[in-house]
Amino acid sequence: MTTHRFPPGFLWGAATSAYQIEGSLDTDGRGPSVWDTFAARPGAIEGGGDGSRACDSYRRWDRDVELVARLGLGAYRFSVSWSRILPQGRGRIEPRGLDHYERFVDALLARDVTPVLTLNHWDMPQALMADGGWVGRSSVDAFAEFAAAVADRLGDRVRWWITQNEPWIIALLGYQLGLHAPGVRDLRSSVAAGHHVLLGHGAGADVIHARAPQARVGCALSLFPCDPASDDPADLAAAQGSDGYVNRWYLGPLLGDGYPADMWAHYERALGGGLDDIIRPGDAALIGGRSDFLGVNYYTRRVMAAAPTGPGRPFPWRVVGPSGDVTRTDEGWEVAPDSLRDLLVRLHREHPGVPLMITENGAVYGDTPTHDGLVHDQRRIDFLLGHLRAVGQAVDAGAEVVGYLHWSLLDNFEWALGYRPRFGLVHVDYPTGRLTVKDSGRVYARIAATGQLPDTRPTVPPFG
Ligand code: FCB
Repeated sequence: MTTHRFPPGFLWGAATSAYQIEGSLDTDGRGPSVWDTFAARPGAIEGGGDGSRACDSYRRWDRDVELVARLGLGAYRFSVSWSRILPQGRGRIEPRGLDHYERFVDALLARDVTPVLTLNHWDMPQALMADGGWVGRSSVDAFAEFAAAVADRLGDRVRWWITQNEPWIIALLGYQLGLHAPGVRDLRSSVAAGHHVLLGHGAGADVIHARAPQARVGCALSLFPCDPASDDPADLAAAQGSDGYVNRWYLGPLLGDGYPADMWAHYERALGGGLDDIIRPGDAALIGGRSDFLGVNYYTRRVMAAAPTGPGRPFPWRVVGPSGDVTRTDEGWEVAPDSLRDLLVRLHREHPGVPLMITENGAVYGDTPTHDGLVHDQRRIDFLLGHLRAVGQAVDAGAEVVGYLHWSLLDNFEWALGYRPRFGLVHVDYPTGRLTVKDSGRVYARIAATGQLPDTRPTVPPFG
């Protein structure tokens, strides 16, 4: 058995988010969120689904806690639905929403499961769109209000806090391409949105730290290593540019280096003007220096080539691969565990002293229950083991990794792709609500219990 030195207290867990699993959208005074509105747009969601039922986790929260405990997971990442706490976006706090998450957190703690609480996993209250959503700078104060309400109630017992989930994806899919809520398509708006999400992290972190001195606060970034398609200098520059766009634009300000100059110049070129009206002097100081850890969401890498700019192509690069014979998930994404190892080692080298938590990592495989009622998702087992080995190698190389949270505990509502992609360690039969722990869930339970990775393909342990 290869033994990696996962540190003591390493968090082995799984992740979900509120809109993707909860359902019960009209319960306990919840207000509408931008995802309620977006999902109702004809054609916005593949298959036409929405979050109205999902995994029914709002009603059946104790079932989820039981499941996490039975799997022997030490940590569970979930998000607090913003519009359950501030149904109108500002002002009145809905106590029933807070009661729910308090019950939930207490039940996790009673089962020795460490809660990892995300505040904004994309479901901003619809009322805040009156001021442009994340495009308006007032969103920063609105988010701080949300953080304060939750920290006032749960700051005494939740240690791990994630302020924002994936600022780049919010900016890109929500405000640049319009493929996610709120469906805006405008590059300048996306720069503003991304910046305000980061300012929100800063303001939220301050609010949480003030109320809960023992809290560890971080932001979860979607990080995609960017490799050049060839060693042509133009492709190398494309990979570097894409790294600026996807990764460094967020890592820099969060971890105290400010916005990277090369990407700033790309934005100015693409927008035909400066960014100073969006990113004001002094803003960097409101974002950096407040992260106790960095959340790393990792799915795959990007292979980049130089490309001309033009309508719909603001930057001189494009994703070209990987091409050819690589292992892929059912969504077509390359399975690239070595890139996770290299990413963690790079983050450790470039930002020493910042603990890293894998806050998401997972894959789409469409396996469903078969003749014996079980889900034999061998490819997810292979994916999981490959990525856990990569984490172990990074740890052995000195990276400070404090936990691994698999995306996802449950199959769930995968945003614009609806219910088709299945990411869960546990299968959900949506019409009946029946749950089946997949083989991958059983294997992961064994790893979580022992802290050891098997050398060879493991036999699937029983689950009961
Ligand atoms: C991430 C999201 C998460 C889920 C996974 C597959 O970008 O944070 O909610 O959709 O992708």
